[in-house]
Amino acid sequence: MESIARQLIAIAVRAPSGHNTQPWQFSVQQDTIRIYPDLSRRLPVVDPDDHALFISLGCALENLVVAAAQQGLLANVHYFPSDEPEECLRVHLSEGAEEDTDALFRAIPERQSNRGTYDGRAIDASDLARIMEANPRDSVEVRAFPVGSPEIEPIIGFVREGNIAQFNDPAFVAELVSWIRFSQREVSDRKDGLASVALGFPPVPRWLGRWIMTKLVKPESEAARQEKAIRSSSVLLLFITRDHDKSHWVDVGRSFERVALMAASRDIAHAHVNMPCEVEPIRRRLAAHLGLDAPEQPLLLIRLGFARKRLPPSARRPVDQVVRSS
Ligand SMILES: Cc1cc2nc3c(=O)[nH]c(=O)nc-3n(C[C@H](O)[C@H](O)[C@H](O)COP(=O)(O)O)c2cc1C
Repeated sequence: MESIARQLIAIAVRAPSGHNTQPWQFSVQQDTIRIYPDLSRRLPVVDPDDHALFISLGCALENLVVAAAQQGLLANVHYFPSDEPEECLRVHLSEGAEEDTDALFRAIPERQSNRGTYDGRAIDASDLARIMEANPRDSVEVRAFPVGSPEIEPIIGFVREGNIAQFNDPAFVAELVSWIRFSQREVSDRKDGLASVALGFPPVPRWLGRWIMTKLVKPESEAARQEKAIRSSSVLLLFITRDHDKSHWVDVGRSFERVALMAASRDIAHAHVNMPCEVEPIRRRLAAHLGLDAPEQPLLLIRLGFARKRLPPSARRPVDQVVRSS
């Protein structure tokens, strides 16, 4: 079972994570895999309460569950068990998968965050329904805002405000720059972070990249670029949680990952436009605009559509670096 567990972990780590921090560690003990938050990889500026970190853990967990089922294994998941000495998600594997996850499993290496401008085509209504139904968690609501509809305009306004607030904040820009891997050398040395090619610019030396990010990129132009990207997409999907705690954050990650995999299985691309969920005062106003009652929270916003081209896959640390030795 231990060698299968390591194969499952290799698939789990293909999950998305904020700034590609990969904030996870794993341990394997017979038929049990534990997933631990790696708090040394927190993003204190953009994610001060760690909700995005736990969403990322949920994404890795969902990949693991999908991959286990594809191997005929049932993954019994226990969130933050009180009998564990350390905070973790505990996954017990046993024979007898209950669902066919083949299509989702095949989409794991295909899924990627594609931040480019899309081709403007609308997603077929039946495909969109299938994608939204892929949300497996009752604790998470997925709301759609089609491009071209009147309801999307205020949401675009919140994205714009969030973008401008973030790029006016030197601490946000400094944290972002610290996770950009400007050259191929940085990518292969670190195997984490945001490769410049994934952000849409060619590899450059770090000093030049930092200069571009701090001097050339302006909040207004960044906001205009994002707005254009949204308008080239088909729909925005907003993930809303019923409560604001770690278990619900993990659930958002699980929902998002299933939705992203279902989209990828249909050649539909996604990218995050998360800014209004990340800037707390804007998130509060977004929640009020949507008529949400506390503690409901809008926590993740993505756009879906048809990308013009695929990107090279973003790097991941190898399994040996994320599995604790027993
Ligand atoms: C919780 C969470 C928040 C994210 N926020 C953003 C974001 O605000 N902007 C963005 O461009 N990408 C965002 N991403 C996407 C990650 O940067 C991306 O998953 C990571 O770089 C790995 O790349 P991949 O998705 O192509 O594998 C987010 C991902 C997660 C899981």
